[in-house]
Amino acid sequence: MNNNLNKTAQEVLSRTILAADESTKTIAKRLSTVGVESNPENNRQYRQILFKADGIENYVSGVILYDETVRQSDDDGVPFPKALTDKGVVPGIKVDKGTVKFSEDKVDSYTDGLDGLSDRYTEYKNMGTRFSKWRAVYTIADGSPTNESIQRNAEDLAVYAKASQDAGIVPIVEPEVLMDGNHSLEQDKEVTTKVLTAVFDALKKQGVDLSGIILKPNMITSGKDNSQQADVETVARETLEVLKQTVPFAVPGIAFLSGGQSPDLATDHLNAINRLKNKNQSDYPWRVTASYGRALQGEALEAWGGKKENIEKAQKVFLDRAEKVYKASLGEL
Ligand code: 13P
Repeated sequence: MNNNLNKTAQEVLSRTILAADESTKTIAKRLSTVGVESNPENNRQYRQILFKADGIENYVSGVILYDETVRQSDDDGVPFPKALTDKGVVPGIKVDKGTVKFSEDKVDSYTDGLDGLSDRYTEYKNMGTRFSKWRAVYTIADGSPTNESIQRNAEDLAVYAKASQDAGIVPIVEPEVLMDGNHSLEQDKEVTTKVLTAVFDALKKQGVDLSGIILKPNMITSGKDNSQQADVETVARETLEVLKQTVPFAVPGIAFLSGGQSPDLATDHLNAINRLKNKNQSDYPWRVTASYGRALQGEALEAWGGKKENIEKAQKVFLDRAEKVYKASLGEL
């Protein structure tokens, strides 16, 4: 066990993790919803609203940055990684280069970005980042995900995690089974169990130190288009059940993605999971928090709407949500 990796993982997990690492394409999609054109300067200004929110460090312990953002500075000329570090927030970096379909007629994909990864780590480490993220994506559909895609993504996540730890950087391992589709909660449970089992098998084979990773999974929910949505208590119970079956006790913590859940629902689910966890601490020894993108940012983005005069309001809305998610990570909402 590497004590430094474990210490950093615990620090990053101590409150919540803001995922602000949208790719160029994704940030353009998000900003377009409020009529703002995406370009490096507009992206910088938007992200600065979040990072400079007064008191962000009370609720957020880590921020995942994108390659463009890690090189940018705030209005005072302080590089974002330093501005965050100065506040006691750990900066992290998305290192994957997005998903690629195995073939055009299939939904299954792998994630690009292993080439040159250790060189990129050297640069990112010099910029002050202390953790990283790699996302693999799985779609539930007829015949998908295939065993081959589950295996390939597990192996790539493990190679990435090892490279990250070799660079002294804590890897967030993110296998995301998408909510897209009309599948049942039971199907989601079955697929997620398979995916997480394969991921931990691969991590062990690759010699990854499990005490120095953070797992970022989906919750177990009904598909977005299923008319029979499972209730909050069921989601909490089934999610913990899957984690208990698949996540070794050596892992220090789990930080869920929001995956398109509304801010309120993502918060309520996290709270219910932690309330249940608190009753059975010996079954679920990990820290369980959130690493939300949309669920932490959505309301703030809307409140801002691209207007200078709305910045303060947007920061207040962001901090209110971050406080709620932090309380939910303790089961205290
Ligand atoms: P969402 O919470 O919006 O799903 O984003 C989390 C994330 O980092 C996806 O990679």
